Amino acid sequence: MKSIVVLVSGNGSNLQAIIDACQTQIKAGRVTAVFSNKANVFALERAEKAGSAAHFLDPKAFDTRDAFDHELMKQIDEYKPDVIVLAGYMRILSGEFVRHYMGRMINIHPSLLPKYPGLNTYQRAIHAGDEEHGTSVHFVTEQLDGGPVILQAKVPIFDEDTVETLTARVQTQEHRIYPMVVKWLVEERLVMKDGKEAYLDGNLLGMHGYAQE
Ligand code: GAR
Repeated sequence: MKSIVVLVSGNGSNLQAIIDACQTQIKAGRVTAVFSNKANVFALERAEKAGSAAHFLDPKAFDTRDAFDHELMKQIDEYKPDVIVLAGYMRILSGEFVRHYMGRMINIHPSLLPKYPGLNTYQRAIHAGDEEHGTSVHFVTEQLDGGPVILQAKVPIFDEDTVETLTARVQTQEHRIYPMVVKWLVEERLVMKDGKEAYLDGNLLGMHGYAQE
């Protein structure tokens, strides 16, 4: 059984989708532990309910980002992770941390990367008058939201949309695509090469990942 460790900062709806998928489609994987950089978040309750270890590690207890990430790495490695999943983990990672998990750490970001890296992607897409928005699952590299894209999902933006309605539409898609990618990684069908290319079943994925349309 492969060990999946999930990092969170909030609600944990993507964590829940992955936990649920481990009961059905991800037969070879199990969420062994969940780590949060925020106390008392709902994601930690979800983890406990699912029987995964739930940890809060307080960044305020550390002088530097490097020191925090070093301790986090030490604690994560006790679970011998095969896959690290960032699921709404809203903290910049140190280079050492990223390099340590390179090729086995993925993130989900609410935009059609390379469009809109960073924060407030929904406001930015609506403000720009875009007709579509979406979400991207990508390998994590040292470039923020810049690692090779594995899979994206697109949704339309309607005139009457608000950040809330658009978020809900995008998150519905996230809950479909993130477990799929976790499954690929658990089954070793997905590989990153040279920190810039993603391969699925030996096939190089394009800049928008697998099956763009
Ligand atoms: C997700 O929608 C994810 O795309 C976003 O945070 C949300 C977490 O929701 N991630 C980022 O913005 C990372 N830059 P959740 O806690 O309910 O899974």
